[in-house]
Amino acid sequence: MIKKEVVICLGSSCFARGNKQLVRIVNDYLRDRNLLNEVRFHGERCFGECAAGPSLKLDGILKERQDEDSVIAILDAFFITIGK
Ligand code: FES
Repeated sequence: MIKKEVVICLGSSCFARGNKQLVRIVNDYLRDRNLLNEVRFHGERCFGECAAGPSLKLDGILKERQDEDSVIAILDAFFITIGK
């Protein structure tokens, strides 16, 4: 089975502007829905789009200007495709 991929920007700008908290939120989301084995969740350095951060990538698609509320919504939409 091909895993879905969630990449969070750990560059200094995104990290300072909210991704520090979003790492925990995404990890809790995946754990609470038993998705940790179906998803490759990891961090990368700056995506090169700092002005639009904090950012994540869902299967390579950049999601900009995320916060604690919007990240739940984009994860819900992303994972609906696998029925979880
Ligand atoms: S620090 Fe996240 S895009 Fe640059």
